[in-house]
Formats: sequence, C-alpha cells, structure tokens
Amino acid sequence: MTMLIRRRAGAGASRAPRSVVEAPVVVEVGQSRVGECAEPGGDVRARLGADECRHASRGREVPGEPLEDGRHAGRLAVGARLKPLGRIRQERRRLPVEVGVEPRRVEQMITPRTTGILGVHVWGRVCEVEALTEIARRYNVKLLFDAAHAFGCSYKGKMIGGFGDAEIFSFHATKFLNTFEGGAVVTDNDELASRIRLMKNFGFSGYDQVIYIGTNGKMTEVSAAMGLTNLESMHDFIAVNRRNYEQYQEELADLEGVTLLAYEEEERCNYQYVVAEIDERRTGVSRDQLMEVLHAENVLARRYFYPGCHRMEPYRSDYPEAGKQLPETEKVTERVLCLPTGTAVNAAAVTAICRIICLVLNNGAVISRKLNT
Ligand SMILES: Cc1ncc(COP(=O)(O)O)c(C=O)c1O
Repeated sequence: MTMLIRRRAGAGASRAPRSVVEAPVVVEVGQSRVGECAEPGGDVRARLGADECRHASRGREVPGEPLEDGRHAGRLAVGARLKPLGRIRQERRRLPVEVGVEPRRVEQMITPRTTGILGVHVWGRVCEVEALTEIARRYNVKLLFDAAHAFGCSYKGKMIGGFGDAEIFSFHATKFLNTFEGGAVVTDNDELASRIRLMKNFGFSGYDQVIYIGTNGKMTEVSAAMGLTNLESMHDFIAVNRRNYEQYQEELADLEGVTLLAYEEEERCNYQYVVAEIDERRTGVSRDQLMEVLHAENVLARRYFYPGCHRMEPYRSDYPEAGKQLPETEKVTERVLCLPTGTAVNAAAVTAICRIICLVLNNGAVISRKLNT
C-alpha cells in the first residue's frame, strides 16, 4: 500500500473532503504513559528529604493510586506544612500563552520574497483558517497547514484536511492516527497531487522512467494495516481522550498557576493533548521542577516543543539571537507540560496525577527550595 495522498472532493464542494479524516481513526497514546520507571522517587525524594518531611506532616504521605496494571504511581513524601489539595470546581480557563499563528502578525511578516504561509494546528487547536486563507489570496502566496496534531479535528464544522493548498498529517506513533511512521498530504490540486505521487516513489512514472526528483516515501503494508486497525477504533479513542481531558480540567480547576489548553466545544477534536501551562510566578515552582517530581513518581509528563527548534543545531549556532524574535515560543517551551492521556490512562491514574500536581503546586515554594538544595 502506498502513502495516502488523497485528492479532495470537487472544487467548491461544501461537504468535508473524502479524505482519511472522515473515516474512523485511532490513537495509541504517544506522549507519555504512567507507570514505567523501575525505581520511582529516587533522587528527587532524597532531595525532598522524605523522612524529615514525613515527620513534619505527621507521617502523611500522598499515596499513588493503583494503575490499571496493578502497579502504583509511587508515593510522594514532601511533607512540611502542606496545604490541603484544592477543592474541585468546574471551570474552563484559557491558556495564557499564544499557540498557533496570529494572522495579523503573519501579514506583517510578508515580504516580496514570501512564497507561502505554513500554519500549524498545534495540539489540535486549529489555526484561524479563514483569515489566513484571505491573506494568502490577497498576497498570492501558497497556504499550507501542518496538521500533524489535528487528525479528526474540525474548523467551522468542516474536517481538517480540506483547507489551504494542502494539509499534511503525521501518522507517527505519537500521533492520533498511528501507522508507526508515515503521514499523508491532502490536496485538491491535481498537479500537486501527481507531483507528490512521483516524489514519494523516486520520481518513477513507469517501469524504468524517472521523470521527476524523488525519494522513498512509500508506506509499508504493515504500517498501512496498523493505520487501518487504528481507524476502526477512532471514536473510542476520542471518547477516552475526552474523558481524561475533562477529568483533568475538573480536578485541576481550582489550582492556582496552572491552566489547561482549552478546545472549542462546538468543534470536533481528538483531545490527544492535555496541555498544562505552569506559571511559576504564581506557583513558586517551575514547570521543570513539577516535571521532575512527576517523573520521580512514575508519571511521564512531557515538555512539548522543548527546547524549541531555534535552540537546536544548526539553528542555535546560525541564529543565536532567534529567541528574541520568538517570545511566545520561548514562553511555551519554558512553561508547558503535556500530561499523560490515552487508553493506557484510566480515571484512577488521572486522579493520582492530579493529586501529585496539586500537592506540588500548593506547596511550590517549599518544594522548589528543597529541589534546589
Ligand atoms: C506539529 C508537528 N509537525 C510535524 C511533525 C513531524 O511529523 P513526522 O514525525 O511524522 O514527520 C511533528 C512531530 O512531532 C509535529 O509535532
């Protein structure tokens, strides 16, 4: 089977394109799982001074909840003058950091050398498609969307895969639709589609005719079979992701200094990412310190987009000042943490994770001091 390159339904069609996104899909939990460290706690607990703290907190530990497979999420013994866990209140808050492109700023950056705009539907939060489409039309530049995170998501009721000159999905194992590796380009531009078909097969147009530059971008049978299997369970996976997301929202709602990325209620979404922003000024403890404690407790939360492309080679050396032009990116890379979700994470695990987060953030200054010593 070959890589999926689907042509969209006829131009001007108002229904969603007959692309892979209309079919049922899957998620194999990608970003993190609970319960993998052989030796939870370790160094972090030592630095937190478990014995001394346990004494100060009258021996009370916050127990890790049992996970589905019978293991425990570990125990946290941080102790001293712990505040009680926050009361639960249902409320949705917006992530203060900016994710995604802002059309106004895109327009400001267009120069005579600009040939295209690439919008990224980060964490399934869809770009301002209409505004970007209008800008691309006005300046006569191409519009592409990186839809790696947005399989199964919609914009104004129309499924992602139907916008711009092309949208590109990732089917990597950490993404919502998992084919181990692979992806798809979705376009209704016939010429582009045929060029991409050539490119993914070394530029071969026949048995021994190479007519275009190409590479090997073919999908293996096994990968395709994996994708099809996952497609069958797409709606079940979304339901689990959504349940976990809503539980996190509920259990962290009253906690100062943490905000979860919100999704549009009226749109379809895969809920693949539970993204928390930690505001150290309010919590007294940094995102990295929270992550350190979570990892010590067997919770593999992940810093997403860390440390940022511009801080990796070759860009770091070529553009050492790039961060100054990317204030929002810098904030995201410093403050954001993706929490475990997916079918391997049940309600008890979410509760256990939230209890650890509440404990750490409610006692941020104490924990930060101890981790720094
Ligand atoms: C937003 C975004 N775009 C593109 C990619 C790359 O996808 P792939 O690994 O399938 O090339 C990723 C992978 O993490 C991603 O997060």
